[in-house]
Amino acid sequence: MGGGAQVNGAQDRGSPAVSPAARGAATEGLNTWCAISVGALEHNVAQLRGRLPGGCRLAAVVKSNAYGHGMVDCARHFLRAGADWLVVNGLYEAQRLRRHGIEAPVYVCGPVAPGQAGLAASTGARVALYDADTARALDRAARQTGTTIRVHVKLETGMHRQGLELRPALDLARLVEALPGLRLEGLTSHMADMDEIGPGSAAQAQTERFAAGLSAFRQAGHVVEVAHLASSGGALRLAGIPGTLVRTGIAAYGLWPSAAVARGVGGAAKLRPALSWHCRVAQVKEVPAGAAVGYGGTYVAPAATRLAILPVGYGEGYPRSLSGCGEVVIEGRRWPVRGRVCMNMTIVEVAGDHAPAAGAVATLIGGPPGGERVGADEVAQRAGTINYEVTTRIHPDVPRLMAWPDGRLTWAEANSPDHAAGAPPPLELGDSAT
Ligand SMILES: Cc1ncc(COP(=O)(O)O)c(C=O)c1O
Repeated sequence: MGGGAQVNGAQDRGSPAVSPAARGAATEGLNTWCAISVGALEHNVAQLRGRLPGGCRLAAVVKSNAYGHGMVDCARHFLRAGADWLVVNGLYEAQRLRRHGIEAPVYVCGPVAPGQAGLAASTGARVALYDADTARALDRAARQTGTTIRVHVKLETGMHRQGLELRPALDLARLVEALPGLRLEGLTSHMADMDEIGPGSAAQAQTERFAAGLSAFRQAGHVVEVAHLASSGGALRLAGIPGTLVRTGIAAYGLWPSAAVARGVGGAAKLRPALSWHCRVAQVKEVPAGAAVGYGGTYVAPAATRLAILPVGYGEGYPRSLSGCGEVVIEGRRWPVRGRVCMNMTIVEVAGDHAPAAGAVATLIGGPPGGERVGADEVAQRAGTINYEVTTRIHPDVPRLMAWPDGRLTWAEANSPDHAAGAPPPLELGDSAT
């Protein structure tokens, strides 16, 4: 899947509507931060909900720190907006949700090692299952703790990642039914490609295999309460994918799984990107013609110019592949990245009149509603990757601030404790009246 640069530009309403005054007050002590729009998270869930047939449950995928958006806060807002379940990759993520008091059903879609069985029991998470050793370990842990662990057998339908072919999947289901600590709750698989749908497509082949697997499970006497195959692409395209639950990640954050899916949906759903990423210019300096800029001197200034040093680099998750080709927005104008992106700094050229000064806010992803912006899709295209990777790789230590529809910015609940310690107290950082 690959995001197209224009995808969001055509449809989003820009970054969270936070007034410059509010942002200034709230972020004064920060070098860099992400603002996560509460309104956008909730809007996107409503859009997805509107696409689902009645009775189909919506599971919001919050793995990998909610695709970089901050897991705990996003989970809360998704649930408040009507998501029924949460999906994580690992049990440690389920544990984190529980520690923050989130009690909604959690499904672990990634691998669970037999040694983690106790964590499955204590979190009450549902787990994807595709091997007998894990099943036995889960059963032991469940019986030791007097609980029942709900498992979802993962069926191979064409992606050739996790999962079992139908025959061994049925064998595993039979084993599960014989283990008193386990309950066979679900059958699941994952779509590899929703860019093409319809006759002859890989999506259709996977859909048919899943439907056949579901009926084979039922014929064998297994009650499959929860069947799930679709992720964002499937949920958005309504390709007749069978299931009683969808697992939606990228679309819940307001980004499209690919340009082809966006085209296929054809405006029937509107998504709003939830994340914008900013930093404060650390230094502005004049350099003479011939100055070699950054590691390796890969950019040599052809004339005297002015550079702004940004306090963000690949260590914070700004892709190194943006060296010499990235663009950031400062005070409503785009400025080019010069030389190589460093671990914790990036150099941009700010030549000419009205150049920004040290302390100005630079936007790495996002931009104000209706103003100049650089979306995650554009960053991905320039960096040679996909929007998923761009947001997911923003380091968890970059503070996440929640941007509320009334203009307030608040400190996200689960920010790194180090940042929380240095942050202005208490949770509330500023409001539009300041
Ligand atoms: C098993 C599984 N389900 C659902 C998703 C969510 O996919 P998307 O973000 O495209 O909605 C993912 C994403 O990686 C996944 O691995």
